[in-house]
Amino acid sequence: MAEKLRAGIVGCGVIGILHAQALTSLEDVTLSAVVDPASERAERMATRYGARAYTDLADMLAREQLDLVTICTPSGLHGEHACQAMEAGCHVVVEKPMEIRREALEHMLRVQAKRGVKMAVISQHRFDPASQKIHALLTEGAFGRLVLGNAVIPWWRSQAYYDSGDWRGTWSLDGGGILMNQSIHTIDLLQWMMGPVVSIRAYMGTLAHSIETEDVATAVLRFASGALGTISATTGAYPGLATRLEILGTQGSAVIEGDELGYLYLARDEQEAAGDYGAGGKKGKIKTKPAGVSTASDPAALAWHSHALQMADMVRAIREDGTPLIDGQAARHPVEIILGIYEAARSGQEVTLA
Ligand SMILES: NC(=O)c1ccc[n+]([C@@H]2O[C@H](COP(=O)([O-])OP(=O)(O)OC[C@H]3O[C@@H](n4cnc5c(N)ncnc54)[C@H](O)[C@@H]3O)[C@@H](O)[C@H]2O)c1
Repeated sequence: MAEKLRAGIVGCGVIGILHAQALTSLEDVTLSAVVDPASERAERMATRYGARAYTDLADMLAREQLDLVTICTPSGLHGEHACQAMEAGCHVVVEKPMEIRREALEHMLRVQAKRGVKMAVISQHRFDPASQKIHALLTEGAFGRLVLGNAVIPWWRSQAYYDSGDWRGTWSLDGGGILMNQSIHTIDLLQWMMGPVVSIRAYMGTLAHSIETEDVATAVLRFASGALGTISATTGAYPGLATRLEILGTQGSAVIEGDELGYLYLARDEQEAAGDYGAGGKKGKIKTKPAGVSTASDPAALAWHSHALQMADMVRAIREDGTPLIDGQAARHPVEIILGIYEAARSGQEVTLA
């Protein structure tokens, strides 16, 4: 392996640009090549970062000696492109969702095992300080018995956003709407903190946009621990409010709003036994902050720092022959939850996950 890892980016659209920023912020990585069939996008990114531009992935893989390839193409192409790169012997970082079909998830894991390369899947909000803090406290058991986990994603996307790419809002390439595209971040945090989901009931609809997929959905969940949960999500809530994640237990509760810790109360930190009527009345109320300029209302308002932390985690895994924090096994469950919600909403039946 070269002194610095040689990286390539597949797909030079909205998130590809952010991958270029994140990768080139790392000392241990050189961005060698980028590919996009839209040649002007590939050329623009290549010129900016001193990389070589391609319009065909097979061509890029054949000509470049790449160590790491990041997949930033429409969601329904992730499996095909990741497998092509892994078959060429490259480690891969795949944008979320890992894929949009169960068979594709399985196939990616098989190819990875066969080729002995590493795969990470982007879920950058696991690297936010608030998420890291709450997860660490949960690992210590600081919340007591978890009883309820709620995720609310009241976002806004205009019709122009959906019209900006012919894959957006389609079942075949986006794999879904508010759930598969936008909410997967929060659903991943919910299941990372609460544990695996075992059963689901759900409703969904398309109320605010002219698209194939859902733009509003609600689901009720049961976790393997016995705790319950809810998901409420839409891209039809103007102007786009901050995401809210509630983790509620018998010894403490936390709320993450947007990417920040909005509320944390642990009985052990107050050196008190959990009182008969709790402590809610004594402590400050939880305020819902306006979303401000964030991805709740503007898909382009993305910061690259959490992506850079996840890329650095992948570089560590490659260098030390370790496992990235979010590997393919870790990334498949949020997709399975979302596929389960679709199945439950369509059938009107409870769906169980293995
Ligand atoms: N982690 C996040 O916060 C985040 C944010 C936005 C998007 N995403 C994910 O990133 C992916 C891309 O989303 P986007 O908003 O950047 O889309 P986009 O439409 O802006 O960009 C996709 C790019 O892929 C290119 N492409 C299509 N087929 C290709 C091929 N065969 N080879 C190479 N390039 C090809 C397209 O020409 C386009 O430039 C999606 O899966 C999305 O869910 C993640």
